[in-house]
Parts: sequence; C-alpha cells; structure tokens
Amino acid sequence: MSEQKNISFDITIYDSIDELAQDDQSLMLEAVAVRKNAYAPYSKFRVGAAVKMANSEIVIGSNQENACYPSGLCAERVAIFHAGAKFPGISVKTIAITAASDNYEVSVPAAPCGNCRQAIFEYEFKQKQPIRLLLMAEKGSVIECRAIEDILPLGFNSTFLA
Ligand code: THU
Repeated sequence: MSEQKNISFDITIYDSIDELAQDDQSLMLEAVAVRKNAYAPYSKFRVGAAVKMANSEIVIGSNQENACYPSGLCAERVAIFHAGAKFPGISVKTIAITAASDNYEVSVPAAPCGNCRQAIFEYEFKQKQPIRLLLMAEKGSVIECRAIEDILPLGFNSTFLA
C-alpha cells in the first residue's frame, strides 16, 4: 500500500517594493541599508536581513565571511540569532532579505539557504506562529512567503528528540 500526497504552497509576487504595505516597505529598506555592512570579500555577494519582532523592534544582520569559508555566516542566521539574543521570548513576525553582488546585477530574489531555513524554522516551531518572508534582489520584484515551514517541507524539529 502506498499513498500519494502533494505538498504545495502559495507565494505572492509584488512588482516592486512600492506595492508592499508601509511596515513591510520600511523593513525591506532596513535590509537594503544593512546590505552594505556585509563582510563579503570572497564572494562579493552581499545579503542584508531585517527581522520584525512582535514588539515592533527591528533586528538586522548581514553575511559575514571568513578566510576559512565554512566559518562565515549568512545574513539570515546573523539576524535571527541576533534577534534571539536581544529579545529572547519575543516572537518573530517577518524577515526581509535582499541580495546584491559587487560583480553583477542580481535580478532574482535569493531565498534562504537550507541551513538558514532550518535555523529560522527552529524559532517558528518554538513560537507556534508563522515567520513571514519577504525576498528581494537588489531591487525589483518582491516575493512574499507565508511561513518558513512552506519552504522547508518535512522539516526536522524538536519533537523527534523527545
Ligand atoms: N548568503 C547569505 O547570506 N544568504 C543567503 O541566503 C545565501 C548566501 C551569503 C553566504 C556567503 O557569504 C555569500 O552569500 C555567498 O554564498
């Protein structure tokens, strides 16, 4: 016996940042602003992330690279760990992410890597509230995802460790 299941999810694509609600625009602009703080001498790929907390505070992150490549960290994890360290117990509502390169014009919004999805999922699972994502390249269209679990199907969580 076998059972076929389909897992799908919805996204919203906005033509530009101008179409976002005011709060989301401001959050994405924070992410754009911190993109320049990326330490990316190796990849030249700069990522900025801005996290909106339930208490309305915004916490930021940018990718931080290392001569020993695996020792560096993506913007999303810098931001979400920063949020957890600064506001423990406060829920995360939304994370805005934007990527640009010093070498070429990034035109497709970059979604978080697998490690970052897992790291953000930990917080989403803990708070039992979805963490919304807003993704943008250097400029241009913005992709909105409802929750990190949508882009991490069959995700691993703490219930397996009980
Ligand atoms: N990077 C991020 O910060 N976020 C992503 O979603 C993808 C990749 C960083 C890691 C590294 O510093 C550079 O981009 C190239 O992979």
